[in-house]
Amino acid sequence: MPAPIISLPPDRIPRRWYNLAADLPKALPPPLGPDGQPVRPEQLAPVFPMNLIEQEVSTQRWIDIPEEVLQTLLQWRPTPLRRCYALEKHLGTPARIYVKDESVSPAGSHKPNTAVPQAWYNREFGIRKLTTETGAGQWGSAISYACSRFGLSCKVFMVRVSFDQKPFRKTMMQVWGGQCVASPSSETAAGRAVLAENPNSPGSLGIAISEAVEAAVTDPTGGTRYALGSVLNHVCLHQTVIGLEAQEQLVLAGEKNPDVVIGCAGGGSNFAGVSFPFIREKINGAQITIIPVEPASCPTLTKTPYTYDHGDIARMTPLMPMHSLGHSFVPSPIHAGGLRYHGMAPTVSCAQEQGLLSPLAVDQLECYAAAVTWARVEGNIPAPETSHALAAVIREAEKAKQEGKAKVILACYSGHGLMDLVGYQRYLNGELQDVGMSDMEVQKCLHRIKDHPKPKL
Ligand SMILES: Cc1ncc(COP(=O)(O)O)c(C=O)c1O
Repeated sequence: MPAPIISLPPDRIPRRWYNLAADLPKALPPPLGPDGQPVRPEQLAPVFPMNLIEQEVSTQRWIDIPEEVLQTLLQWRPTPLRRCYALEKHLGTPARIYVKDESVSPAGSHKPNTAVPQAWYNREFGIRKLTTETGAGQWGSAISYACSRFGLSCKVFMVRVSFDQKPFRKTMMQVWGGQCVASPSSETAAGRAVLAENPNSPGSLGIAISEAVEAAVTDPTGGTRYALGSVLNHVCLHQTVIGLEAQEQLVLAGEKNPDVVIGCAGGGSNFAGVSFPFIREKINGAQITIIPVEPASCPTLTKTPYTYDHGDIARMTPLMPMHSLGHSFVPSPIHAGGLRYHGMAPTVSCAQEQGLLSPLAVDQLECYAAAVTWARVEGNIPAPETSHALAAVIREAEKAKQEGKAKVILACYSGHGLMDLVGYQRYLNGELQDVGMSDMEVQKCLHRIKDHPKPKL
């Protein structure tokens, strides 16, 4: 049996990001401003540096990775592709399962793939401080690391429930020089408004984004901008190094295109990263089933219509074309904090509308069971977010067994779970339940955004 790890030599690291916007058969609708008109780049300038705004609206297929960014990515990239012989044997499946291991980065997930370029482009533009939100803390720690690398200060608003569940994530941010506060906080008007209504609010990514955007745009020096760890086009773009490397590694492993590509989907960025290069192949005729996996408690792709909605509770962001449960949605405090976002990346949502994806929603108990199976046979302990991808891997491997087909399955192993052990402890103690959303609950949420415009493809 060949060694399970398929390494890519450092000189084969991708030197360009892949932009799916260039190849989607129907173009991505633009974000809309308060006047209902497409947002002009200069309207975004108080929030993001212009060099990233240019990437956000770009339809150029390939975008060069700056040399200094590449040198930093080389600290942990190319990441390993792993053939999961032990899981295959355990499941008795004819499928050949591969995972792309993004847990080897400094922060332990895929998030540094975009934190590094975002910090670099901000520094190049003369920005001195970044503000951001974080769900599970993976993004907050990644951006703290990237800011320390490029000499920027960093302030992170961390969703209250995760702040309490994962205290060591805050310590990681502090080690890298970041400042971390629980959201909702009393530091911003947006946070104070939420606390006035519910002093015990568990917080949400939508609330934390409002706080972070407000903190950036109200800095009187003008030297602060906001950074987002998912959802936006440029974030998904930066993550495509995952899929581009995987394509080369699959060739080294003697495979052609995979039959199935899987990634968990919160705001959509690691899913975008692993899948967009393969969506390109699919647009060009390859037969690939591409599965974003979301939690049943926050079912955007599987249960909501394609609409325009804000990215945050205080409606500070433009209206973005996406699948959304509504910007005021406060999700259940499940342990996969990074998957509790009310919306889905516009590029991922647009691909879904064009029939390119087969989304799946999975309950948390099935995900924890998959994570424990994985840890016992493959070794590592995955992040609760990643466990959603692993649950889908197991389902697909079992389907391949029933069909007697030797399918090739590729999944993104988005992060490790070593800071998420409280959730595992509660699972092992039998204290967790499934918290899926009924159709009626979803309809109630959607009612609040029923008058929003609908994107036209
Ligand atoms: C380990 C891990 N996987 C997945 C996600 C989901 O984010 P995205 O959908 O942007 O990849 C997160 C978000 O925090 C995460 O920490």
